[in-house]
Amino acid sequence: MRRKSLSEVTIAIVGATGNVGLAFLKILEERCVPFENITALASAQSAGKILAYQGKSLPVHNLETFDFSHTDIGLFSPGAAVSAVYAPKAAAQGCLVMDNTSYFRMDPAIPLIVPEINAAALLRDTEPRRRRDAGRSWGGIIANPNCSTIQMVMALHPIDLISPLQRVSVATYQSVSGGGKGAVDELYAQTAGDPTVAHLPKTMAYNVIPQIDVFLEDGQTKEEWKMVAETQKILGKPLKISATCVRVPVVCGHSEAIHFELADDVPLETLRQALRAFPGVRVADSFATYDTPLDIAGSDDVFVSRLRKDAAIENGYQMWVVADNVRKGAALNAVQIAETFLALGLKK
Ligand SMILES: NC(=O)c1ccc[n+]([C@@H]2O[C@H](COP(=O)([O-])OP(=O)(O)OC[C@H]3O[C@@H](n4cnc5c(N)ncnc54)[C@H](OP(=O)(O)O)[C@@H]3O)[C@@H](O)[C@H]2O)c1
Repeated sequence: MRRKSLSEVTIAIVGATGNVGLAFLKILEERCVPFENITALASAQSAGKILAYQGKSLPVHNLETFDFSHTDIGLFSPGAAVSAVYAPKAAAQGCLVMDNTSYFRMDPAIPLIVPEINAAALLRDTEPRRRRDAGRSWGGIIANPNCSTIQMVMALHPIDLISPLQRVSVATYQSVSGGGKGAVDELYAQTAGDPTVAHLPKTMAYNVIPQIDVFLEDGQTKEEWKMVAETQKILGKPLKISATCVRVPVVCGHSEAIHFELADDVPLETLRQALRAFPGVRVADSFATYDTPLDIAGSDDVFVSRLRKDAAIENGYQMWVVADNVRKGAALNAVQIAETFLALGLKK
């Protein structure tokens, strides 16, 4: 049977008025997915609003009353509590759901996918015969990892293939767009001198905040825990890893200082070549050139620079990794999962 492309399926964007939802629309537009195939969904308060798609007016519908039985693919980013209710409902109506929220990511029955790294898990977890053989069930939902996890594993995986990672320690510098449109508005308002718009844990303008998401009992934040648990699930091994996640007054683009230890002493040029050869990763030309969020916002790739030895530890290395959190960190990765699913000829 002929395999379908993204342009031949019907797609609902759930959370279409948000940061990730608008990025979904832009990416589908870039891929020339026909206007007729797209439905925009959001909360009841947005129903009737008009979004732009291919120069035409795309009306927003209410998620609560939407019937997914004629929708092939649902690109979900309405927040975890909303996905918890509506992703299973859509899947039960026959829609394949790509969920961007944290709700399903660590469910063992649900694939957590970065296509360049573990597309094989998509086959293993969703293909009916293999599922039966493994005694697994799958409800039709695929999870998209956290934005900071995606760009970190994209940079670590090609290195892990050269010499197994022994330990990873990461400090993040995460933009406000990772916190949704409300956090972006908050930064703009505070920067313009209005301190009354304040929902983040501390003032964001001219500051940095070492808290993203809630605190867990062991002192980590949930964002830090997600980076650890999701990385282990994607790489398929219990890698030793620790994270400090920090919100910074940047609108778009997350940065990460990653320290890692390998099993072997590998020349830097070998690591650079492995990273250069990996799809979706770009490496700075020299040790003195590097990327910042402003340089790469709007790009699809993950940018690695400042790769160097860490003199403080045997077989230790450091690197600086920057990516657009709304594209590769969210909407683009989910679209790539859908494209991979269709290209593999998989069925829900
Ligand atoms: N931004 C990122 O970099 C990023 C990366 C990875 C994952 N994520 C995850 O993706 C999700 C959305 O992020 P975002 O940045 O797009 O947030 P956002 O800008 O705040 O947008 C949230 C979207 O969800 C919709 N929504 C809220 N409540 C709803 C309801 N009850 N029913 C239907 N729709 C509802 C909103 O619609 P209304 O306009 O009608 O309220 C809006 O379209 C979050 O779970 C986030 O953790 C975000």
